[in-house]
Amino acid sequence: METNPFYTTSVIPAPFFCDREQETESIIRILTNGNNLVLKGPRRLGKSGLIHHIFEDKRICDHYNTFYFDIYATSTLEEFTLLLGRAVYASLASRKKKAADAFLSLLRSLSLKVGMDPVSGALMPGLGFGDVKGNELTLNEIFDFLEKSDTPNIVAIDEFQQIQHYSQENMAALLRTRIQKMNNTKFIFSGSERHMLDIMFASQDNPFFKSARNVDIAPIPEDVYCDFARRLFLQYGKQADEDAVLYVYHLFDGVTYYMQETMNEAFSLLREGDTLTRGVAESIVDRLVESNTSRCLDILDDLTLIQRRALGAIAKEWRVADLTSSAFISKYRLSSASSVQSATRALIKKKLVVRERSTYFLQDKYLALWLKANY
Ligand SMILES: Nc1ncnc2c1ncn2[C@@H]1O[C@H](COP(=O)(O)OP(=O)(O)OP(=O)(O)O)[C@@H](O)[C@H]1O
Ligand SMILES: [Mg+2]
Repeated sequence: METNPFYTTSVIPAPFFCDREQETESIIRILTNGNNLVLKGPRRLGKSGLIHHIFEDKRICDHYNTFYFDIYATSTLEEFTLLLGRAVYASLASRKKKAADAFLSLLRSLSLKVGMDPVSGALMPGLGFGDVKGNELTLNEIFDFLEKSDTPNIVAIDEFQQIQHYSQENMAALLRTRIQKMNNTKFIFSGSERHMLDIMFASQDNPFFKSARNVDIAPIPEDVYCDFARRLFLQYGKQADEDAVLYVYHLFDGVTYYMQETMNEAFSLLREGDTLTRGVAESIVDRLVESNTSRCLDILDDLTLIQRRALGAIAKEWRVADLTSSAFISKYRLSSASSVQSATRALIKKKLVVRERSTYFLQDKYLALWLKANY
């Protein structure tokens, strides 16, 4: 079977990774100069992919141990420590057996119940950590272990804003105190909640103040993505019209995830010698959007009537600057400015709507297009 060159996972082999050259250079410079990094950007633009891409770069993988973990689904120090422990073990086990063994005996010496999956060799979820103090100790021991290694380390903590929701209120302070003292280990903090990260890193009275350099990612420029996609089709004896790719780019506001999914689907449907025209692209997108129907209905089911109307209205407008304008309210029968405001607040809290530079829009482009077509 032929491989599809349009990857929809976040680990992408270099030849199929589009652009991000400037960002890659800046990040490598920041890290190799001994600084920590905050990597921010809207959802699904390619932050996680960029971290993996950088970890594969010779300038990084030849000189550093790299560790990646995603704390989106965690809410305690215990889970954080467990994921860090697993990331460290998994990365060492794949490359440095001796260091991995040493790490495992460290964990055991901390009298942790370390289980191992007999097949994959991965650390098992059943790791038993004790009380919070014990976790803090374990976390410190893991960081000490990294500090002592012959090779310097880079630890990437993805979805970092999640630590704001931890049951330990001082999580940010605890990490900061420890991280500040580390010389042999640098950190990448990555996340999509721009505002939260700004609060965490940019406010003076916050513990993370000024502890890291910033890189903010934006959509890949349209001409760059267009050349990339058309080149990949050509490499496999297929073609894509420029206006087809540009249609997809603009429809999804240049958000990488949706463009890659569409191109992946297009690639799989086209035979050798076929061309992706704008018409074909439109029908592929329509089908992708329709395939989200039951998910969209589930989302709507969880909303109140006014929230549903507000969501539908924002989707139809695509981007709304003034939610309380009388034109907007009467066009979508939204009753009053205050009810739109409170409905939108709820939608933001549910992560369905985002506010960026004082405009409101739907985070999920499939949902937005589905509502546009069906609501
Ligand atoms: N440079 C790139 N070239 C090709 N595809 C990419 C690139 N960057 C991202 N993608 C694709 O876009 C999708 C989203 O990427 P990724 O998961 O890295 O985004 P993210 O910003 O971390 O998203 P989230 O906010 O949901 O965590 C993935 O399917 C990935 O394959
Ligand atoms: Mg991500």
